[in-house]
Amino acid sequence: MTDRPMQLAVLGATGSVGRAVLEDLEARSVPVALRLFATASSEVDLLEFRGEELEVEKLGDKAFRGCDAAIFATPAPLAREWAPRAWAEGCLAVDLTGAFRSAPEVPLVVAGWNDVAVAEGKARGVVAGPSGPVVPLALALGPIHREAGVERVVVTVLYAASGAGRAGVRQLEKEMVALLNGEEPDLSEISHRMGFNLVPQVGAFGAGGHTDDEVAVGSELRRLLLAPTLAATATAIRVPVFYGHGLAVNVRTSRPLAAEEARALLRASPGVKVVDAPGERVYPMPMLAVNDDAVLVGRIREDASQRNGLDLFLVADNLRCGAASNAVRIAQEWVRIQRG
Ligand SMILES: NC(=O)c1ccc[n+]([C@@H]2O[C@H](COP(=O)([O-])OP(=O)(O)OC[C@H]3O[C@@H](n4cnc5c(N)ncnc54)[C@H](OP(=O)(O)O)[C@@H]3O)[C@@H](O)[C@H]2O)c1
Repeated sequence: MTDRPMQLAVLGATGSVGRAVLEDLEARSVPVALRLFATASSEVDLLEFRGEELEVEKLGDKAFRGCDAAIFATPAPLAREWAPRAWAEGCLAVDLTGAFRSAPEVPLVVAGWNDVAVAEGKARGVVAGPSGPVVPLALALGPIHREAGVERVVVTVLYAASGAGRAGVRQLEKEMVALLNGEEPDLSEISHRMGFNLVPQVGAFGAGGHTDDEVAVGSELRRLLLAPTLAATATAIRVPVFYGHGLAVNVRTSRPLAAEEARALLRASPGVKVVDAPGERVYPMPMLAVNDDAVLVGRIREDASQRNGLDLFLVADNLRCGAASNAVRIAQEWVRIQRG
C-alpha cells in the first residue's frame, strides 16, 4: 500500500451532500487530494478545505484523469452520463444519486455492513450508496438480522428538510421566518408547507399508493441484508426539521431477541451508537445526530403485540451518515483494494 493520498473527485461539491463530503474528510483527517465540480452556473467558485480555497470546476474532458474515485452528489441524469466516462478514465464512480441503485450488477454498499461488496464495483465501474434512510436502517438491522433473522420490518421515516437538498433547507428557512412574522410563506420551490406541518409524501406515488421512496426502503434493505423474502413496508413523512432523519422501526425476527440482547449487540456494531436510557430522558433526537457519522439507536423495547417483536427509534444525519460518510468510506475501501 502506497502512502499517496486518495485522489478524489466530488461532483455536486457545492450542494448539501457535497459539502458534507468535505466535512467528513476534514473531521476524520482522511489523506486526500481533491477535485471539486459543480455546474457552470454555480453561485460558488471556491470552497474552503483545511484552511485552503479550492477551485470549483465545471465538468469536461479528462475531468477524472488521475482520480481513484468520484463521488456523484448531483442529480441522477448527470451520474448516468458521466459515471461511464469516469470509469473509462480508470476512476470508480460512487453514486449517491439513485441512478444505479437498482442495477443488479452494481453493488449496493453500506460501509460498516457490507464493505466486502465494494470490490464488485469493477463490473461497471460503479458502487451505489442506498437512499438516505436505508443507510442507518441497514446499520441497525444488519446485526439483528445476523443474530436473529429479520422476517418483517414496518418503518415510518421522518424526513428532514435537507433530504431535499439546498432547496429544502432554503424553503424551510423562508417558511419559518414568514410564519413567525405572521405572513403566508411563498411555496414556489416545494408544493406543501413544511413549517409547523407534516407532509405524508416523499417521492412520487406509484400504482399501489406507496411512493417510490417508500418502496425503495424494502427493496434496498432486502438487497443489503441478502434477505430476498424479508417483508417490509414504509411510510415517509416530511417533518419540519432541518437535519437528521428519524425512523420509528418495528421488527419481527425468526428467533427471539430480548431488548437487552439487542442493546448489547448494537453496542458492539460498527457505525451504531446506542443512546437508550429513557428513564433519564436519553434517546436519539435529530439535534444529537447532526455531524455524526453513526446512527443513533434508542427506545429499544420488546413488542408484546406479536411473536419476536422489537421496537426501535433511529436517528441519523442524512447528509453525513445517510450519504457523504458512506460514500467517502466506500472510496477509501476501493483505494485500499486497488493498492493492495
Ligand atoms: N440530501 C440528502 O439527504 C441525500 C441523501 C442521499 C442521497 N442524496 C442524493 O445526493 C444528490 C445530491 O443531493 P443534495 O441534497 O446535495 O442536493 P443539492 O443540495 O441540491 O446539491 C446538488 C448539487 O449538484 C450540482 N449539480 C446540479 N446539476 C448539475 C449538473 N448538471 N452538473 C454538475 N453539477 C450539478 C449542484 O451544483 P450547483 O452549485 O452548480 O447548482 C449542487 O452542487 C441527489 O442525487 C440526492 O438524491 C441526497
